[in-house]
Amino acid sequence: MDSVPRPPHRIVLGPGVVDRLGRLVAELEVERVFVVTDPGIVAAGHCERAEDALGAAGLEVRRFDGVRENPTSLDVDRCVEALGSWDAQALIGLGGGSSIDAAKGCAFLQAGGGSMADYDGHGKARGTLLPIVAVPTTAGTGTEMQSFALIGEEGTHSKMACGDAQALPTLAVLDPLLTVTQPRFVTACTGLDALGHAVETAVTRDRNATSAHFSSLAFELIVEHLPRVLECPDDVDARTQMMIAAAWAGYAIEHSMLGAAHSMANPLTARFGVAHGQAVGMSLLPVVRYNASDPEAARLYADLARGAALAASDSSDSDAVDALVACLEDLLRVSGFGLSLAAHGVPASAAEALAPEAAQQWTAQFNPRAVSAESFVELFRTACSQGDEVGQ
Ligand SMILES: [Fe+2]
Repeated sequence: MDSVPRPPHRIVLGPGVVDRLGRLVAELEVERVFVVTDPGIVAAGHCERAEDALGAAGLEVRRFDGVRENPTSLDVDRCVEALGSWDAQALIGLGGGSSIDAAKGCAFLQAGGGSMADYDGHGKARGTLLPIVAVPTTAGTGTEMQSFALIGEEGTHSKMACGDAQALPTLAVLDPLLTVTQPRFVTACTGLDALGHAVETAVTRDRNATSAHFSSLAFELIVEHLPRVLECPDDVDARTQMMIAAAWAGYAIEHSMLGAAHSMANPLTARFGVAHGQAVGMSLLPVVRYNASDPEAARLYADLARGAALAASDSSDSDAVDALVACLEDLLRVSGFGLSLAAHGVPASAAEALAPEAAQQWTAQFNPRAVSAESFVELFRTACSQGDEVGQ
């Protein structure tokens, strides 16, 4: 019954819990582990700390630390090459979503060979995948709660979503202290990404009762704690709540998929280098307004707003959606991005080029309101100019 998404077998959360990583991994009854990470995580000292914990538990450790942001099939190929014929018994993805997704990709290729394109879709794993341990260093992607790896096709802009029940991490170790020292920009981007996950999963065509529950939990936590972690980066309790929120939002994706804001984000990242979370956050506002003309989507957005006490329990859907939109505007301003993509180097004239690429993204099909390339032109234009409308 692999069609029913499950959470990781074990989630361990708490400040400093990464120092218990060795013991937690050893409980999986493995002796040789391969760490997949990136140069920034090594420079921050997180890798050494994790490897010290693994070594102290008697585990033999090898590492690939060359994952790039928004990893492609080339990153996975390099990771598999570094693993070589070593008889690892588990893969540890340590870092943001990129490193964890690369570890998942490595698991697919290690077990079944071929290239990442062979695994684009769901349930295409060949053989038995090595267990995956996810140690996120950001509170954003929620990939630690998902059976999918998002891997770009090297040389093109297209994202492959490679999913299989076996790719769901066996263990997720959530240590909010790993997020405390990250730059404010990273906190803002990853927080907005989690926000986009919570809001988009609440309304997609594939939503269900489980996703609705986790979307709502995540949204409520993000509304309360994202401003706090931006204002007081060393507030460990707020960091902890954001880590939980990102995980719940990620679990909502597993049940519900994403929508048009994520469709817009990929070409914005590919063509203009806008960070994923920033692109999602700034696209979300016009997408919510666009979707809210659908009465069912408006009802769901209104429920989200009421659940987070943004609107009174007896408010009209229209008033509650207005409250949601106002909240999203506030969060974008608090994050330091404002509302207009034009202020970040994306001219409104780029809308015609960006729109067809957004329409081709796999997430577009799950948006509650149909979105054509023509619709995306208007959405991009709005995203570029919307700051002007509110006097920014
Ligand atoms: Fe995202």
